[in-house]
Amino acid sequence: MTDIRNIVVLTGAGVSAESGIDTFRDAGGLWEQHRVEDVATPEAFERDPELVLRFYDMRREAIQQKHPNAAHEALARLDREWEGGLMIVTQNVDDLHERAGARRVVHMHGTHLNAWCTACDVRSPWTGTLIERPACPDCGERSLRPDVVWFGEMPYRMDEIFAALREADLFVSIGTSGAVYPAAGFVRNANDLGVRTLELNLEPSQGSAWFDESRHGPATQVVPPWVDEILAA
Ligand code: APR
Repeated sequence: MTDIRNIVVLTGAGVSAESGIDTFRDAGGLWEQHRVEDVATPEAFERDPELVLRFYDMRREAIQQKHPNAAHEALARLDREWEGGLMIVTQNVDDLHERAGARRVVHMHGTHLNAWCTACDVRSPWTGTLIERPACPDCGERSLRPDVVWFGEMPYRMDEIFAALREADLFVSIGTSGAVYPAAGFVRNANDLGVRTLELNLEPSQGSAWFDESRHGPATQVVPPWVDEILAA
C-alpha cells in the first residue's frame, strides 16, 4: 500500500445508518415509506410543494438530533492525518462527516442544512423549516427550496470529482448500494483509470463485481480498521 498517495472515498447512506438515519433502499428505508416521484423530483415540487417541503423539513430536523458514528470519526481521522490527496465525496445530505471533523468533503447531492433560492440562486445556511415559505435572506423572494439534488437533476461538483478520480491511486466506496448514477459509475471510471478499488459495505452492492476487493460488515466495524491500516502503511 506504500504506493498510495491520493485517495477518493465515496460514501452513501450506509455510513450514517448506525447514527440512526434511514437509508433509502434497505428494508423499511425511505423509499419504502415515500414514493420517490412524490418527494424527490422537480416535478413533485411543482405539483405539490407542501408535501415535498414537509418531507425535507422532517428530515432536516431529524438529522440535527443525530450524531457521527465510529465510521465518520475514522474518516475524519484519515482527513487529519493523511498527508496525500483525499476527497470524501458523499451522496449524503447530512453533515455528520463535518461534525466528526472531516474537512475535505464534497456533497455531490447537496445538503439539508442549506436552503436554495430559485429566484436569486443564493444558497443560505438553514436549520429551520421551509413549509411556511419564508423569505430568502438575500433577495427577500419566497422562492426557497431544499438544496438537495433531486432525481433528474445534475449532481454538484462533478468536474472536481472526476479530476480527483484521475489523480487517485485508490478509490474506496462505503455504505452505498450502487443503484444511483453517476456515483454508481465511479468504480468503473476508476477501473478504466487503473485505480485500485475497495468496497466497504454491509453486504455486496449492485457494483461489487467491479471492485478489486470487498469487505462486508457494518461501517462502524469495517471502516476504522481500514483507516488504521492505510495510516500505518
Ligand atoms: N454499514 C455499512 N453499509 C450499510 C449499513 C451499515 N450499517 N447499513 C446499510 N448499508 C448499506 C446497504 O447494504 C446498501 O448497500 O448501505 C447501502 C445503502 O443503499 P441506499 O439506501 O440505496 O443508499 P445510497 O446508495 O446512499 O443511495 C444513493 O439514492 O435515493 C438516492 O440521492 C439519494 O444519495 C442517495 C442515492
